[in-house]
Amino acid sequence: AIGADRSRIARELHDGVVQTLFAAAFRLQLHADEAPEALRTTIQQTTAGIREAINDIQAYVHGLEPSLVMLGGLGASLKQLAVEFESSSGIPVTVDLEPNAVAALDGVDTDIVQLVREALSNVRRHARARRVALTIREAAHATVLEVRDDGRGFSPEAAQGLGLRNLRTRAGLLGGQLELHSGPGKGSLVRLVVPEPQQRPESAESLPV
Ligand SMILES: Nc1ncnc2c1ncn2[C@@H]1O[C@H](COP(=O)(O)OP(=O)(O)OP(=O)(O)O)[C@@H](O)[C@H]1O
Ligand SMILES: [Mg+2]
Repeated sequence: AIGADRSRIARELHDGVVQTLFAAAFRLQLHADEAPEALRTTIQQTTAGIREAINDIQAYVHGLEPSLVMLGGLGASLKQLAVEFESSSGIPVTVDLEPNAVAALDGVDTDIVQLVREALSNVRRHARARRVALTIREAAHATVLEVRDDGRGFSPEAAQGLGLRNLRTRAGLLGGQLELHSGPGKGSLVRLVVPEPQQRPESAESLPV
């Protein structure tokens, strides 16, 4: 019963509170570009605070102390996530992380962990895949993260869910872009392109404590 309670609370946080926070950050962000300088700074700080709140809630939902998530750094956290995914799903994951590219994601590492977690959760629940690959590499003025599976695929335009919508919003808050490439029978590719640190909105970096 305690387990059922926990998962109900987790679901309500995910579908309720986290959704409300994402929507609030998204609406604020829409207006950041045309806002005057002073207001823009306030908007960026506010969206950064909302992002932190989302990250904390999601970390708690997954049974982790937020501060412990990144103890070993982003690379270690992602490898850990892959190991947990393999043992719970039985689907092998190939992890290929360029150290420089991983280092460039410093400051948005918690977001990356949550994003990969959702992408892998989709593979486990929907893809019927035989293999998954997680890669992070450098591209021109950007870092590229990919989660690729060889499962049954789907139509991204038709997909309706909070998970993918959250991925897009999260990518937007980082100043990055989310691409979904898939089709029935074609496997799926979730690609996040994050601009190099100098080109991200100020709010994409963690707030000073
Ligand atoms: N890797 C994948 N392989 C096949 N289908 C997928 C994959 N990822 C997403 N989908 C399809 O896209 C839909 C939307 O995904 P989304 O993550 O937004 O919602 P969800 O997983 O159904 O629910 P939640 O809000 O809990 O994430 C899924 O229901 C599924 O049909
Ligand atoms: Mg999902």
